[in-house]
Amino acid sequence: MCGIVGYLGDKNTKEILLSGLKELEYRGYDSAGIAVLQDGEFSIYKAVGKLVNLEEKTKEFITDKFAVGIGHTRWATHGKPTELNAHPHLGESSYVVHNGIIENYAELKQKLQEDGVKFLSQTDTEVIVHQFEKNLLACEDGFKAFSKTISELEGAYATLIVTASLPDTIFFAKHGSPMLVGVNDEDEKFFASSDSPLIGLAKEVNYFEDGDYGYVTKDELVIYNKNAEKTKPNFSQLSTDKLSAQKDGYRFFMEKEIYEQSDVIADTLIGRLSDEEIVFDEIDKNLFDGINEIKLCACGTSYHSALSASYMFERYSKIRCSVEIASEFRYRSPIMAKDTLFVVISQSGETADTLETLKMAKRANLKTLVICNVDNSSMVREADACILTRAGIEKGVASTKAFATQVTVFWMLSLYVAKLRDSLTTDELKYQIHLLRETPVATKVSDEIHEKIKRLSKRYLHGHGFFFIGRDIFFPLALEGALKLKEISYLHAEGYPSGEMKHGPIALADPELFTIALLPEHLLYEKSKNNVEELSARDSTICAISAKEFDKADDFIKINPCKDYMLEFFEMMIVVQLLSLEISIRLGNDVDMPRNLAKSVTVE
Ligand code: F6R
Repeated sequence: MCGIVGYLGDKNTKEILLSGLKELEYRGYDSAGIAVLQDGEFSIYKAVGKLVNLEEKTKEFITDKFAVGIGHTRWATHGKPTELNAHPHLGESSYVVHNGIIENYAELKQKLQEDGVKFLSQTDTEVIVHQFEKNLLACEDGFKAFSKTISELEGAYATLIVTASLPDTIFFAKHGSPMLVGVNDEDEKFFASSDSPLIGLAKEVNYFEDGDYGYVTKDELVIYNKNAEKTKPNFSQLSTDKLSAQKDGYRFFMEKEIYEQSDVIADTLIGRLSDEEIVFDEIDKNLFDGINEIKLCACGTSYHSALSASYMFERYSKIRCSVEIASEFRYRSPIMAKDTLFVVISQSGETADTLETLKMAKRANLKTLVICNVDNSSMVREADACILTRAGIEKGVASTKAFATQVTVFWMLSLYVAKLRDSLTTDELKYQIHLLRETPVATKVSDEIHEKIKRLSKRYLHGHGFFFIGRDIFFPLALEGALKLKEISYLHAEGYPSGEMKHGPIALADPELFTIALLPEHLLYEKSKNNVEELSARDSTICAISAKEFDKADDFIKINPCKDYMLEFFEMMIVVQLLSLEISIRLGNDVDMPRNLAKSVTVE
């Protein structure tokens, strides 16, 4: 979610770091910073907000000789977006930048504090640099100290460290967050968390594997793998096209974001799951005192995630829950009961209709909570409490990973409330938490399924309409599938509850009506199957998505067998997203910039 760059060489270090950060700014932009070690002296610059603020601060700073430098653009996870929390973080005479989350930072921090170390920031990252300096003091060997530090960290990270006593060295480690190093014939070394900053600078690059760590100097690139064995770099050529580099080789940002879902869901879960309960440090437990109803309000895809949430809140937390479309809610003189928690959901945090409903709830003195992807957005600033979804910046106009992380947050929140209200047994809670931990696996895209959908998509480029159908929590997923398809393919699609088709829409059934049927094995399977058979009997073309073979379908997309319907939900989410993507690509549409749509709808 953040961006890292590093440089070792004789050229203009400041410019190389800043222009690298510019390429990564889309990943996070609540603060940025650089640390440059030149002539044995560190120069540090940090600024809150967009990169231009850092550029402004470094205007007078000149780098015209050999230097090592590291830089970072931040998307806050631990601690607010302030200058103190911006990277690079300082120890006594070393600096660190880091992407990811150090899960055992609290433990490490406590020990360091007991040793008298003073912490300046609220971040998890700062422990890395202090831990490194503690080890350096003990062994007086930079690489040994770094290796020991890495072995002491738990969690996901990509990190770079520079230290005053080794002014020609950058230490690096990668575990769970991406990072690569680039080299050229002029003995320069470049680091970044994705390709694009290195284009035009590095001749060839090495993508680190999880567990890799080591160091660079002018003459050396030393890599050790996760088994502490020295390995050779595996160099490859870099693409020369910046836009395609930002897309990491995917055809569209939407495709890349579909593939990212497994990782961003893992980010959403980090630090929030213990064995028997959900931990939301960011919200006060009193938030739910006196609350007897939850009202969810949002637009578009966020509305669909809210609708999914209503099934979870009533089923797991046993609390009354209602869901509202923001543009409707704001003009219909709604009743605002004081025992209601008003929750808005928004990827951007700026959607005008949703923001207005939040203001209405505040005026009515309701407690408010926002589930949002953009820290510091208008909704985050307005609401009493906030849970960030941690999806990273979503570039595709058609929302995918934002939806996935919103549903994940709601799943966790429903269990959090279940614990407060004692509505699930400890064993039930443990089971749900176990399932949550499996969600990143359920959302990994398999080549096999993607290939199947690619092939099958050619049969769905015409017709007089699509019905995505599902029951229970699969109904909001059907709505979301239909919305994805219409947004980017411009084909007519509707989401409908499976059991409701016979009350009208079944009249449309013929071979040119395409039914995309969501058939989870573990939730109302027989009932849903009967509904699909009714459509099949009337000659609608059926594409069934299920883990269980279904012989009444014209096309069948088999998901992996899962132990619970919630995991089936996430597996099917991937399928409906990919299906829309492939249909749209076959129709020759611009998937990332569909006609008539905008990423953030800040007008009514
Ligand atoms: C659909 C989509 C839109 C948004 C809607 C709300 O793919 O992106 O339907 O979900 O405009 O936007 P946020 O979530 O930013 O409030």
